[in-house]
Amino acid sequence: MKTLLVTGGAGFIGANFVHYWLATHPQDKVVVLDALTYAGNMASLSSVVNHPHFTFVKGDICDSALVEKYLRDYSVHTLVHFAAESHVDRSITGPDAFIETNILGTYSLLKAAKKVWLDGPKTLEHRFHHVSTDEVYGTLSATDPAFTEDTAYAPNSPYSASKASSDHLVRAYHHTYGLNVTTSNCSNNYGPYHFPEKLIPLVITHILHNKPLPIYGDGQQIRDWLYVTDHAYGIDLVINKGRVGENYNIGGNNEWANIDIVKTVCALMDAQFNQHPTLKTQFPEASAAHKNDSASLITYVKDRPGHDRRYAIDATKTFNELGYQPKESFETGIAKTVEWYLQNEDWWRAVMDGSYQNYIDEQYKG
Ligand code: NAD
Ligand code: DAU
Repeated sequence: MKTLLVTGGAGFIGANFVHYWLATHPQDKVVVLDALTYAGNMASLSSVVNHPHFTFVKGDICDSALVEKYLRDYSVHTLVHFAAESHVDRSITGPDAFIETNILGTYSLLKAAKKVWLDGPKTLEHRFHHVSTDEVYGTLSATDPAFTEDTAYAPNSPYSASKASSDHLVRAYHHTYGLNVTTSNCSNNYGPYHFPEKLIPLVITHILHNKPLPIYGDGQQIRDWLYVTDHAYGIDLVINKGRVGENYNIGGNNEWANIDIVKTVCALMDAQFNQHPTLKTQFPEASAAHKNDSASLITYVKDRPGHDRRYAIDATKTFNELGYQPKESFETGIAKTVEWYLQNEDWWRAVMDGSYQNYIDEQYKG
């Protein structure tokens, strides 16, 4: 039996990871530490709040003394670090929070982990697993080979630079102090509980409001999409079978141009409105979907500054060493995701509050 401290467990991937872990490791205990920023949402954890092996604590990862206390109080073996500022567009307009949480917050966790696991009596086997991104590797041309773990870091946005910085700190705490660390670098996730500022849920919720679907630049930027539970499964393998001190790429081998992803989501939404006439009453504003024409909402807008052209993950090492392969196909994963948003209107309406609308107005003005 293990006890995990999951930072950022009320966010998109963290919450999916908690659901995955409690279902697949029923003997383990999970403690979530989350500051509940705009991206954190207790509703994403509502089905586990009364689970006997689940505990939630509200707190900031930058508070090293607090983290140290929780590591001791709960006798934590494994720290899984998701907490971050995660949206590239927000890092362009306001990088401060990214430096604070992603760099200083990770440093604060490393300090606490060192104190508890290395500086005192060594009573517990420990692991510090750091959740990172493919964006640290920079950008690819259409013909470049996919990123491997040996690709040199070349981050291009304040977000990816802050994540790269945190990856280096994690590495240094292993090499210098002997902390048992692993890092995973994953591609774009999609699935339930995805905050609606990100491309796929933004498109779904905009169709339901008959609002424009904003495509940055020419829409030909490529991302490698992975169903979020397959990310959780990959992290599980890295924690349990990965070699300490190593990085592991996790990806879906599933590259799509943005415009094609958006058209796919439009077609799925139209099909849902065709198959389920009650949706027209449930979502009276979604008039393009009523007419089987959600794609008519596609609107090209000015490009994201410094927009990375293509990401692609080569996960050969993770496959060879850990046997990792995604379980969900893109066809089933994206269909499940669309259905989840249609069935969980309360969840997304609650997060699209006044501050969210202000963000959208500011981000897409003009
Ligand atoms: P998210 O923005 O949905 O969630 C972040 C969570 O961290 C929120 O619950 C928030 O409240 C919490 N948080 C933020 N600052 C905090 C602080 N100072 N102290 C404690 N909690 C804090 O993010 P996500 O999309 O779930 O991403 C999770 C992690 O995975 C991030 O580290 C991100 O870089 C990485 N990642 C994301 C993707 C993706 O496609 N979303 C892909 C690869 C890697
Ligand atoms: O690659 C992993 C990364 O994926 C994670 O590290 C990040 O935390 C996560 O947010 C995600 O970053 P992206 O920038 O790729 O995701 P986003 O959903 O913001 O955008 C996906 C693509 O769609 C990207 O090329 C930008 C484009 N886009 C996005 C929005 C929000 C649009 O064209 N229009 C939009 O309105």
